[in-house]
Amino acid sequence: MTVKIFDTPEVQDFLKSVAGFDQAGGDERTKQIMHRLLSDLYRLIDDFDVTPEEYWAAVSLLNALGGETQFGLLSPGLGFDHYLDMRQDAIDAEARRTGGTPRTIEGPLYVAGAPEAEGFARMDDGRDQDGETMWLTGQVRDVDGSPIAGAKVEIWHADSKGGYSFFDPTQSEYNLRRTIVTDGEGRYTARSIIPSGYGVPEGAPTDQVLKALGRHGERPAHIHYFISAPGHQHLTTQINLAGDAYTWDDFAFATREELVVPAHRIEDRAEIARRELDGPFSEVVFDIELARTEAPELQVRHKRPRAKEDEQDQASRLAGAAKV
Ligand code: DHB
Ligand code: FE
Repeated sequence: MTVKIFDTPEVQDFLKSVAGFDQAGGDERTKQIMHRLLSDLYRLIDDFDVTPEEYWAAVSLLNALGGETQFGLLSPGLGFDHYLDMRQDAIDAEARRTGGTPRTIEGPLYVAGAPEAEGFARMDDGRDQDGETMWLTGQVRDVDGSPIAGAKVEIWHADSKGGYSFFDPTQSEYNLRRTIVTDGEGRYTARSIIPSGYGVPEGAPTDQVLKALGRHGERPAHIHYFISAPGHQHLTTQINLAGDAYTWDDFAFATREELVVPAHRIEDRAEIARRELDGPFSEVVFDIELARTEAPELQVRHKRPRAKEDEQDQASRLAGAAKV
């Protein structure tokens, strides 16, 4: 087919009225962005000769994604989360805010309000029989190497089946989610279980999109962090455990070289006793460096709808139905 109508005055005028350019009300930035988005899509329909069947199949898929609150799941898979990180890195570099542990994506499975502890917390509820005990510890420092006492370290991760509490209703409330405030030496320690890698739910709309691209929806075993301290830049990051088949093949594009951390298996009896554990365990050490800033807006995480943080949050309200 050779039909090309996008550049005609009729279509160009039509796009302007669809985007509300001829209306006094509404929001100017939304109008501009919508006009650009619709223009790009209209042009794509013209260039690829998109058929009505293809168009309506796409609408149906979007409905399925929304119906299961899966846009937040698909977003990392399509690279948007990592792209926003790349932009934030470039913004920091331009403002000469350099140094510190690298950021990486938050992911869609954070839940606000986890229990808070000083220095040490046990994160697992003891019910996951397949979970190897993990001793997770580290020191929070500023870019000069001075320890930061009283830093807030929020940690969340999956269980031995790759499921996250809240989104997986079989787990207890806040299982594998804690906030630990660093001690006088800037240290935090958690007793937990080694997480398994996470996979997008089989057959779900997100999975359908990835399969159509010939891709998988697997993530390596990983542990999420938010770290904050007054006078320092808030950091959203995660560590990937070394040796996982997906460490360098993460569907969410979150792996960064500095964030790949080994888990060391420890069988020495004295070491086990020192931690008051009852058998061999794996130790993961992750030290964190925070960049300095006086800007209050850089000391807190950016806003986004998060489970249990916002009354309007869809994921919270639909958690019972969500298959994430
Ligand atoms: C997704 C899940 C995660 O646990 C994560 O850390 C990042 C992304 C997802 O399903 O998109
Ligand atoms: Fe995750």
